[in-house]
Amino acid sequence: MRFHVLTLFPEMIEQGFHTSITGRAMEKGLLSLNAVNIRDFAGNKHMKVDDYPYGGGAGMVMQAEPVYAAHQSLENQAGRKLRTIYLTPQGHTFNQKMAEEFAQEEELIFLCGHYEGIDERVLEEVVTDYVSIGDYVLTGGELPALVMMDTISRLVPGVLNNDVSAETESFQDSLLEYPQYSRPEEWRGKKVPSVLLSGHHANVEKWRREQSIIRTAKWRPDLLEKAQLTKKEQEFLKG
Ligand code: ADE
Repeated sequence: MRFHVLTLFPEMIEQGFHTSITGRAMEKGLLSLNAVNIRDFAGNKHMKVDDYPYGGGAGMVMQAEPVYAAHQSLENQAGRKLRTIYLTPQGHTFNQKMAEEFAQEEELIFLCGHYEGIDERVLEEVVTDYVSIGDYVLTGGELPALVMMDTISRLVPGVLNNDVSAETESFQDSLLEYPQYSRPEEWRGKKVPSVLLSGHHANVEKWRREQSIIRTAKWRPDLLEKAQLTKKEQEFLKG
């Protein structure tokens, strides 16, 4: 997977992505990152990329031409149109299903706005997907782009050491994760649930599934509607 990011703060993207699992996956050649500074396409000696909004109002708007020129440079290199995601609170709310769909692409462009946003005309020209990461407003699109890239990256084969974990984790089956424990067996008087020490694989699986259902019912009852529960599990929840 190749990620391109159009931003005024490329170092923010680079620092965020060159760490931990995504950093290692880049070293292995499974992921690559190209953070492009929109300011390099300013086209004027003051390197200015923003201006006052027509009609008045607070803040500055990122101008169309530098964003367009930066985007063109990427599509020219690729020799084709690329799916281009604009991070905005006005977009569709990001979720695991969208991540799975984006993970099918070979290359993606993320466009990060700052200040009061980007001139609408260039968005109409280049953006294919408008995505929000949740109902709150950040100072720019960089953190949302990192959130999306991280989520998509772990779905790319080989990025996680164990392929099963990408599949079995939360939301794939609309249930939250079961609790995890590691050594020691007792910590500050709190014991690891005995079933996990039993070595009885089927009982462990049963306990984990129950815990997932209990947690989902408690914290995210809205997800339960989508979860595929057996008759027995539905009764277990009621009782
Ligand atoms: N830019 C500012 N806030 C955002 C959000 N919640 N999601 C995506 N992009 C944003």
